[in-house]
Amino acid sequence: MEGNSGASPGARVILGSVVSFRDDPSHLGSRRAVRYYRRGAVAIDESGRVAWRGHAARLPRAYLGLPVDDYQGALVLPGFIDAHIHFPQHRMLAAPGSDLLDWLERFTFPEESRYASKAHARAAADAFLDRLAQHGTTAAVVFSSVHRSATEALFAAGDRRRHFIVCGKSMMDRNAPASLRDDPASSARDTEALIKRWHGRPRSRYAITVRFAVTSTEEQLRAAGALAAQYPDCYVQGHLAESSKEMTLVKQLFPWASDHTDIYDRFGLLGPRSLYAHGIHLSERECSRLSATGTTIVHCPTSNTFLGSGLFDAKHLGRRDRPVPIAIATDVAGGTSYSMLQTLAEAYKIAKLRGHVFTAHELFHLATRGNAVRLGLADEIGTLDPGRWADIVVLNPSATPVLEARQALSRNLEDTLFTLMLLGDDRAVRATYLAGRKVWGTVPATRHRPSVGR
Ligand code: GUN
Ligand code: ZN
Repeated sequence: MEGNSGASPGARVILGSVVSFRDDPSHLGSRRAVRYYRRGAVAIDESGRVAWRGHAARLPRAYLGLPVDDYQGALVLPGFIDAHIHFPQHRMLAAPGSDLLDWLERFTFPEESRYASKAHARAAADAFLDRLAQHGTTAAVVFSSVHRSATEALFAAGDRRRHFIVCGKSMMDRNAPASLRDDPASSARDTEALIKRWHGRPRSRYAITVRFAVTSTEEQLRAAGALAAQYPDCYVQGHLAESSKEMTLVKQLFPWASDHTDIYDRFGLLGPRSLYAHGIHLSERECSRLSATGTTIVHCPTSNTFLGSGLFDAKHLGRRDRPVPIAIATDVAGGTSYSMLQTLAEAYKIAKLRGHVFTAHELFHLATRGNAVRLGLADEIGTLDPGRWADIVVLNPSATPVLEARQALSRNLEDTLFTLMLLGDDRAVRATYLAGRKVWGTVPATRHRPSVGR
């Protein structure tokens, strides 16, 4: 059975090959950074959090009577975290703009205008969250449209369906069609109302959302900075240094600024809770400033190749003397796939072109615990450690004939993960759990008297 089955909540045990990360493999080395239980088990409590994980044979007695979802032969991982995705672009993938600005004008702004309708936004929110679940994404940092009501609709749907959602309404008061423009006062008012309503719920957080410097006046950027100062535990999100035409426009609009980063800096929009997508065309000065302020750059590989924005330089950004924190994301619908597996594959290829080789362990870490760390949420999501939300993706390493043939040659976990990301997509997602509840996938063999343990 496919789709949102609304499967029964409650405590249960999941069996499979359990993979989670205790640290970044590029710092600690794979052997110490990866937790891997080939015949593993994850016990989930009534509240939807991980109670225990480890070797199935060592499952504590307390969990022996629980229902069991049996995925032996598949990988059980923390659900993917998408660190940057656009809700009102959820159906406009593969729109062939010649570059970022052309794509925004011809396809994106008209599509986002439809979100003025609350009915449209409500239906879209369900479709959007279905797509995330289908692809094994259990948490996402989301750009909404300029509309407060559309943003409400997404938060409400996320809350009801238990997706972990960080979201904000776009603040944009110029260089966009009238139907998509707010003004400094109304954007601050709407943002504050949404913060009060949604920020800090168990699985909702607010991100003060400045689209990019091009679509905000200085007055609006000042208002966004004031909100960031007033609500320091909210996130800030935006776009930065994505395309060369954008860079030229930013220079014209802000002649006083040394660069795009400087604009956000002057208005108090950098910091450890700020995340900016792309960061392809950054100067050395900008890298130093982003590093000093702990601002995260979100790598959006399929978007950067599709829009022809450029090749992200992970090695340069990560330079040890001034490391810029990095997250990873689909950026649908600049991005061409909801799949974090495909996103990791593209990141791997781009790094190769830049002379750097990522391991599969490093990339799977980035899409799970790495993104959680960047969000300051590693105590909540991103691993399968006890106490974390039981946000889980179950991946079938032999989901397609091509994968199945390739797995016959696979000799270890690194190789299995590598082939999954290069050759896999949503077909490899066997199940997705949000806060312990299965919301997507095939019905597993559920048993009520587990033969695991002893
Ligand atoms: N820069 C400003 N808006 C957008 C957007 O919607 N997508 C991408 N990729 N870049 C942007
Ligand atoms: Zn984006």
